[in-house]
Amino acid sequence: MALPEEFLRELRSRNDIENVISGYVHLRRRGRTLVGLCPFHGEKTPSFTVYPDTDSFYCFGCQAGGDVITFIKRMENLDYIDAVRLLAERSGLQMPENRFDPDNSKHDLRMRIYAANREAAMFYYNTLYKKEGAAGLDYLKNNRGLTDRTIRSFGLGFAPDSMSQLTDYLVNEKKFTVRELAEANLTIRSQRGGLMDRFRNRVMFPIIDVRGNVIAFGGRIMSDEKPKYLNTSDTPVYKKTNNLFALNKAKGTKEDKFILCEGYMDVIALYQAGFDNAVAGLGTALTEEQAKIFKRYRKKAVLCYDSDEAGQNAAMRAIHIFDKQNVETFVVKVPDGKDPDEYIKRNGKDGYTKFRMLVDGSKNEVDYFYDSVKSKHNIQTTNGKLAVLTEAAQFLASLSDPLKRDLYTSRISEDMGVKRDSLERAVEAELRVVDQREANAREREVRKVIESINETAAMPQMKAKSKRSGKAEEMLTAFLMVRPEYASRAAARLSSDKFSMPFAKRIYECVISRVNEGKNVGITELSTELDLTDGERSKLAKMVADLNEQAVDLSAALCDEYINVVLTESEKLTVNELSERSDDDISDYIKRRREQEKKRKQQQ
Ligand code: UTP
Ligand code: MN
Repeated sequence: MALPEEFLRELRSRNDIENVISGYVHLRRRGRTLVGLCPFHGEKTPSFTVYPDTDSFYCFGCQAGGDVITFIKRMENLDYIDAVRLLAERSGLQMPENRFDPDNSKHDLRMRIYAANREAAMFYYNTLYKKEGAAGLDYLKNNRGLTDRTIRSFGLGFAPDSMSQLTDYLVNEKKFTVRELAEANLTIRSQRGGLMDRFRNRVMFPIIDVRGNVIAFGGRIMSDEKPKYLNTSDTPVYKKTNNLFALNKAKGTKEDKFILCEGYMDVIALYQAGFDNAVAGLGTALTEEQAKIFKRYRKKAVLCYDSDEAGQNAAMRAIHIFDKQNVETFVVKVPDGKDPDEYIKRNGKDGYTKFRMLVDGSKNEVDYFYDSVKSKHNIQTTNGKLAVLTEAAQFLASLSDPLKRDLYTSRISEDMGVKRDSLERAVEAELRVVDQREANAREREVRKVIESINETAAMPQMKAKSKRSGKAEEMLTAFLMVRPEYASRAAARLSSDKFSMPFAKRIYECVISRVNEGKNVGITELSTELDLTDGERSKLAKMVADLNEQAVDLSAALCDEYINVVLTESEKLTVNELSERSDDDISDYIKRRREQEKKRKQQQ
């Protein structure tokens, strides 16, 4: 998708490459550039370089290079557009509507689904307060203890006990097509082929994204029948593994932590009690995507899973997933095997204070882990102790914070009455296993990147007539990216058809015309306009990097020198070309070259 110029400029200025990369790599200033240890391959001396002038980075070790978007893409393992999205969201920038996408229909369909969902949510809400919604309202108020205010705040509703009331309403009154409603998963086909509302006779929980779009629904049955909750399947606007329930509310909280619970009702009950910082997964175990989204809003999580065994296992998995994203976790164990909703309800008007105490007294993930592993084994016996220590070593090795690991190695060894050394050795052995696994994964990644770079380098578009001309073409192009004020000077003397290397020619043309139009010529803009591949972006970053290595002073004289070389090289005939010329042609050519040389020498 081609991103609008204005959006890119804003994205770039809000996401200064130096700032963004500093969040991942420790950078040291070296003249106009910054260097650090490459995050994409293991190295001991820094060959990873950031060039603020061109908003680019390049690693001389593994050849990874590009702009801030490429960096985030590799670092966070995202595709291009998601990397842009992450940077936009991080810096409070609205993504542009994809109006120019040739595949407009997809975008239009998404808009229609949002609209249909919004109408459906209003329909469900209104139904709740009509006669046919009485059972739903009674359930929410008397059974679940919700107030009208909470109901309105979450936009809860009721899907009537009828075959196709919503579908009929949306088709007849609101002019949605059946296809749109089917894509939104609001309407399904019955076994007999007729149209049927997907949700019938259920209380409805709309799922709303951070921009206020209704993206999906959960519907709870009011009896003990199964399934207890029916949810919107994945649609073009919704993927359950990529969303969190109530993030739209929690994002505005003053609290520095989000509470993560299992169910819709937990979040809602907590909200009614006075906690505006609770979110929930959507019926799946916490996913990496969800943890990444979570991290964009808060760096601390209070896990509040059900206290049954399944809930506690889920909590352990969530701890590891959050740890990988550097989200600090705390764990609340709700007493008496209750979930937060039940706990709040049982404590009546003390609900807030009691739950606040649980949250404030929540243990960090290591203490939580240690307590639960100790309660699993009989630590009076040698075998029990051994089991605890073995599991502890594994857990400590999995932590990404070395300080925490060190601290708890001391604490746990002391508590278990063993020498610190022995636990430390066990942890180190586990660490080597983890390290090796990670190194292998990283190496596979780097190999993939290098392959794509090598493939690009072998393409005809990267070949120049001679080494000398290729180098000069690359240098000149990079030069103009850093010093666009020389672009008109270059354009006046050197037309792009003198270039022998297609890639450099393409960039040169783009730079000249963009400077003419007063536009930026950073790597981001060039790569977007020309729709460059990863390998090409890396090549562009390398050109800038090479220029920086070679040229200390980017003067007008240097610019002219590059231009001269390109010009003279373009005059030279290749052996192939020579063999095709007549003898007269060739003697003409030699004469011309002699004169050129003479002129050049006189100039110098
Ligand atoms: P729970 O079974 O813990 O239910 O499911 P709950 O949230 O306590 O619900 P109540 O209090 O009985 O009403 C936790 C979450 O898992 C998903 C829902 O998102 C639910 O909130 N879930 C559960 C489903 O999607 N489908 C189901 O059938 C059950
Ligand atoms: Mn519950």
